[in-house]
Amino acid sequence: MSNIAVVPGSFDPVTLGHLDVIRRAAAIFEEVHVLVVHNPGKHAMLPIAERMNLLQKAIEEDPEIPSNVIVASWSMGLLVDYCTEVGAKVLVKGLRSQIDVAYESPMVLMNRSLAGVETVFLLPEPAHSYESSSLVRQVASLGGDVSDYVPAVVANYLNATRPK
Ligand code: PNS
Repeated sequence: MSNIAVVPGSFDPVTLGHLDVIRRAAAIFEEVHVLVVHNPGKHAMLPIAERMNLLQKAIEEDPEIPSNVIVASWSMGLLVDYCTEVGAKVLVKGLRSQIDVAYESPMVLMNRSLAGVETVFLLPEPAHSYESSSLVRQVASLGGDVSDYVPAVVANYLNATRPK
């Protein structure tokens, strides 16, 4: 029996909702791998190295996230190949709404069929239910303030890199 869980996502960028789910996963599993994965269906704003850097800093700066959380990336193949490589039997994903259930369900069944990897869903605090990386990207690109939706390190990064 493995007690390693993988929390995969684009994290482009990491939001407060992501951190909420990571915190909950870290309280359940002995080891949590937060995995930055290239999503072929999305056009990325940030390079993977920058997303990892921001995630790492956000996790370090969150006093409620324990030290059993590591940040990694995977761009060479299937998500379940990473799980097999590190001996993880469980994926953890956050659910905000029925739309997420519909989006995630085929992936749950595919990952189970491919490698026997199960998926556990955790609900973040309702305050985070309307946050998403894509809306954060949109609001930030149009000059809006995203500091209520992302960790401070991300808000500072987006402010500093915004075209003047
Ligand atoms: O944060 P996102 O963009 O919703 O995360 C989606 C992600 C990266 C978890 C998803 O695109 C994914 O699982 N990608 C891995 C590709 C893969 O293994 N596909 C086949 C099985 S579903």
